Amino acid sequence: MTSLSLRLPSGPRGKLRNTWRVLKSPRHFFQDCVAKYGDPFTMNAINGKVVVTGRPELIEQIFRADPDTFSVFASEGLKPILGAGSLLMMEGPDHRAERKRVAPPLHGDRMRVYGETMKRIAEQAIRKREDGQPFTGLQLGTEISLDVILQTVFGADSEDLLQEFRVCTRAALDRSWPVLFFSPKMQFGFAGLSPMDRLRNAQQQLRGALKRELDRRGSTIADREDILSILARPTEDEPHLDFEHLADSVGTLLFAGHETTAVSVAWALYHLHRNPGWLDQLRVEIDASDGSPLTYSKMPLLMGVVQETLRLNPIVTEVLRTLRRPFSLGDYHLPVGHSVAAAACLAHYDETVFVNPNEFDPSRFVDQTYSPSQYFPFGGGNRRCVGAAFATFELAIVLGTILRSHELELLDQGDVVSTRRNITMGPSTGVNLRVIQRRGVDRV
Ligand code: HEM
Repeated sequence: MTSLSLRLPSGPRGKLRNTWRVLKSPRHFFQDCVAKYGDPFTMNAINGKVVVTGRPELIEQIFRADPDTFSVFASEGLKPILGAGSLLMMEGPDHRAERKRVAPPLHGDRMRVYGETMKRIAEQAIRKREDGQPFTGLQLGTEISLDVILQTVFGADSEDLLQEFRVCTRAALDRSWPVLFFSPKMQFGFAGLSPMDRLRNAQQQLRGALKRELDRRGSTIADREDILSILARPTEDEPHLDFEHLADSVGTLLFAGHETTAVSVAWALYHLHRNPGWLDQLRVEIDASDGSPLTYSKMPLLMGVVQETLRLNPIVTEVLRTLRRPFSLGDYHLPVGHSVAAAACLAHYDETVFVNPNEFDPSRFVDQTYSPSQYFPFGGGNRRCVGAAFATFELAIVLGTILRSHELELLDQGDVVSTRRNITMGPSTGVNLRVIQRRGVDRV
């Protein structure tokens, strides 16, 4: 190892300023830093020193490292909100065991069964939009993705129950202000009125709804295949239900499993309506199909649209890990306590990998594949999104269903930019749209 390798990469000064710029527009901030300091660079922020990279060969080192190299980034700030039982907060053997329990209902044959439900929910949601009345793609996407996760993954089977979960989940999300996630100092209580108090209150209501539903299910959880029932079942290691753990776990799945997909629906509709040539080509593909959920998930251009949307607008702009052991990243030897960030918002705009990276071009995914360190909207390594297959399947079905039956108009005149929602980023306007025509194919 040379003495050079012991230095940290250089980077911008000013903790607060850096934190503010990451919150505001990570891509532009990171791109400025790379232009000035090179890749990787070190960012000093309120959550500590983070070495950021968008270079595939370095990202591969992060994703391929022994999982025990890392601990969860910023857990001090995130744990009070997400809870110790959240998959996002777990580490080591507990993390592996929880993924084993959660993953099966989100993959393979079980997931395919959900296709019809996804299609029905999307049809109902778009049909409710009155001709000419404005709505946002984000509202539409949220309505669909929240119902999808509640009905398929959680097995919510009555309108009353759905409504109760919808209200509680949205209330908790609407009160998840970014500043609470990024600064533990802001998580103070104040006579029930502080932002943290209001978030806690919404979370308690969600927990109450969950408890009532588990009581209602009683012993039937033994025979049910939804995640809620699976997580509530006793295991050899845990013969008695730890309700707090279960509630953390369920809360994370609800949060991670619908907000992300909703934002992607909005972005996909935005890009398609800004690029009418691609919209026309996609319609030809969709209209020629039988409109079944399984067909949608296999249509090359539709899948290209989904992937290209996630390339241009990764919902999580960088995935972070904190070092519990020294770690070599390229020429640098990073000490314990520092963090590393694999930045999708840099890698996805690398022009040596993606020609004209600022352009929406779904064909780049039709006959080309990219390595998991060049393209990673779902993160990577042992923490790669457990819902990636489910989300991709859902996005294809939702977009296929909406575009087959309705013609929409984009009402936003200028560029819609990416803004911070909480941990995630989303479209600044929500993407304003209206229905201009109900179409002949499967007219609804
Ligand atoms: C377009 C939709 C989605 C996107 C873009 C997305 C993206 C991500 C990303 C970037 C991560 C972090 C991965 C890492 O640290 O390497 C993640 C983790 C996670 N996602 Fe997703 N996600 C989506 C949908 C879903 C869905 C539908 C579910 C569940 C039904 C889900 C559940 C989770 C969970 C539980 C984790 C934590 C995994 C762990 O730490 O082991 N996500 N997701």
